[in-house]
Amino acid sequence: MIVSVFDTHHFDRAALEKENTHFHHQLHFFTARLEQKTAKLAAGSEAICAFVNDVLDRPTLTALQKEGIRLIALRCAGYNQVDLVAAHDLNLTVVRVPEYSPYAVAEHAVALLLALNRKLHRAYSRVRESNFSLEGLVGFDLHGKTVGIVGTGKIGAIFAKIMAGFGCRLLAYDAFPRSDLPVMYVNREKLLAESDVISLHVPLLPETYHFLKAETMAQLKRGALIVNTSRGALIEARALLDALKSGHVGGAALDVYEEEAGIFFHDLSGKVLQDDVLARLISMPNVLITSHQAFLTHEALANIASTTLETISAFERGAVPENVLVKV
Ligand code: NAI
Repeated sequence: MIVSVFDTHHFDRAALEKENTHFHHQLHFFTARLEQKTAKLAAGSEAICAFVNDVLDRPTLTALQKEGIRLIALRCAGYNQVDLVAAHDLNLTVVRVPEYSPYAVAEHAVALLLALNRKLHRAYSRVRESNFSLEGLVGFDLHGKTVGIVGTGKIGAIFAKIMAGFGCRLLAYDAFPRSDLPVMYVNREKLLAESDVISLHVPLLPETYHFLKAETMAQLKRGALIVNTSRGALIEARALLDALKSGHVGGAALDVYEEEAGIFFHDLSGKVLQDDVLARLISMPNVLITSHQAFLTHEALANIASTTLETISAFERGAVPENVLVKV
């Protein structure tokens, strides 16, 4: 099948090309993000392959359908960027990669938490400048602390098991509690009030949008650390900024940011950052930001590529792909 791949980077192109030796699709790679005005690049393809920050709203989907697209293959788990109702109306099948390496994301969340708490980002820069002072680098033992896990699906569950190994007390909040995890399920209020660390692992949905906003952040224990490796809009960024400035929130480690599209994944080092909230967050010593890289392991990339290409082959054969979000 001819597939237009949007928002391509070296790492995903390499993984897709390697796996495609087994599938023999015709892959056309574009570095441009998918949006209404770039949809025409897909002309001549039957499928497009999109990533987390591509825009798949009704106008873009309509433009893709006009170019002859029948299949939207997301090479990610989250699908908050797609108007599924519009896709259905336009007879577009939508598939995703529901699981590629929950370990990659959970381990990155732990890495961020450890680095933020023990101030490794600051220590690393200091030592490179031959500044061997320890002033301001005091962290806390995770052992015995309370960690609140919001969402105990595939990623949250692995995060919980890792944190159990640190000897933490684990509180969890999820619409569907599980019985196989070393956590105590509590309501949102108790989780917010008692956690020294909060890690977010729910998908972005209307019900989870701004899960942490001024009102809910006020309910946090003073000095709590926040880790977000899920989706940026789970946190109201401006409210986080205020809570960090007042000292109510002790620190934030973010792999995602609500306005990350057009910024994350790009080298903007020669430009003036236009997002003042992000610029202010980056300037804070108790904020650690990575650019949506939690998924970025060799294992995850290989799984993303093979599942995506396998799903496209299934669609081509007329089978109902396993990972379907909208079936036509
Ligand atoms: P999952 O679907 O296995 O787990 C999500 C959990 O959230 C489920 O247990 C579900 O019951 C719970 N949940 C859903 N809505 C809820 C609500 N309104 N209230 C309470 N709980 C609710 O998803 P998985 O694989 O664990 O991924 C979680 C999120 O991580 C994804 O949706 C995605 O946004 C993000 N992600 C981030 C990546 C990165 O590179 N930073 C990579 C992959 C995923």
